[in-house]
Amino acid sequence: MASSDEFLLGVSGCPPAQQTAAKRGKPSLPPFFFAPAPRKIAALSAVYNGWPDPGLHLYMHRTWPYPRVVCHRGGGALAPENTLAGIRKAAAMGFRGVEFDVMLSADKVPLLIHDETLDRTTNGRGSVAATPYARLASLDAGAWFSPEYRGERVPSFEEAGKLCAQLGLWANVEIKPARGFERETGVAVAKLALELWGGASISPLLSSFEPASLEAARAAAPELDRGYLTDRLGSGWDEAARALGCVSVHCNCEYLTEGQVDEVRGAGYWLLCYTVNEPAIARRLFSRGIDAIFTDRLDLIPPDFA
Ligand code: G3P
Ligand code: MG
Repeated sequence: MASSDEFLLGVSGCPPAQQTAAKRGKPSLPPFFFAPAPRKIAALSAVYNGWPDPGLHLYMHRTWPYPRVVCHRGGGALAPENTLAGIRKAAAMGFRGVEFDVMLSADKVPLLIHDETLDRTTNGRGSVAATPYARLASLDAGAWFSPEYRGERVPSFEEAGKLCAQLGLWANVEIKPARGFERETGVAVAKLALELWGGASISPLLSSFEPASLEAARAAAPELDRGYLTDRLGSGWDEAARALGCVSVHCNCEYLTEGQVDEVRGAGYWLLCYTVNEPAIARRLFSRGIDAIFTDRLDLIPPDFA
């Protein structure tokens, strides 16, 4: 039997194919078994919640100040990903935080898109990094999702940031560079984020799977918070996150173990998990001390879930 440290917090017991369906926003079948309730972390919570000794700073865990349910790629599974319509949908449903992905066009305009190619989420073809923004902005980014969203565009980061401010939404801006543009994308996104949110009472959190992007973002806008984003927490994550001056760690809930939760929180980072599409898993993660989740299922996991 697996030790409690190896207990996977984000797995429902569904066969992998069903988890994949849930990730895409499709309902999954009921799990065929339920995992045991997670252990309590009373000892660590006591440390997080109040010991004032500054010598214990590594073990002090500030309360996560941002929304705990974050809409993945704008509007999750209810709208085309990384669009203004998705961001509006999230706000209309009462959510207070969104995550979206930002890449550079050929002429270095930061814009919202997940893939390096246009094929899956627009009516265009080919590489995002090789296409000028004017062309990208003329594409349809909604019809692939449903006819209702025909005419939806690939938004610029500037448009998305301004919309978030207007709607009072907090943003996790994921720097998603096309290969070879890691540093350039980090600098461009950080500079524009600073311009868009400079002086605002609530700041965005920049994250990236690419350490070079975070390093570049840090140099360009050291005052903006950064999140260390990784699919699985491998050995050395702490050194890497510390070297990049990150305040949070973001990882795939499917590989997260109880032991890692203690490690991350014990080291003083906020811990965020993606992509959590089943309420039972969201409940388990929150009860275990995760600070925030990214979800596609805005219909199943409401803004006030945690
Ligand atoms: O930032 C969390 C999550 O969005 C990372 O995965 O591939 O959906 O950008 P992805
Ligand atoms: Mg993302």
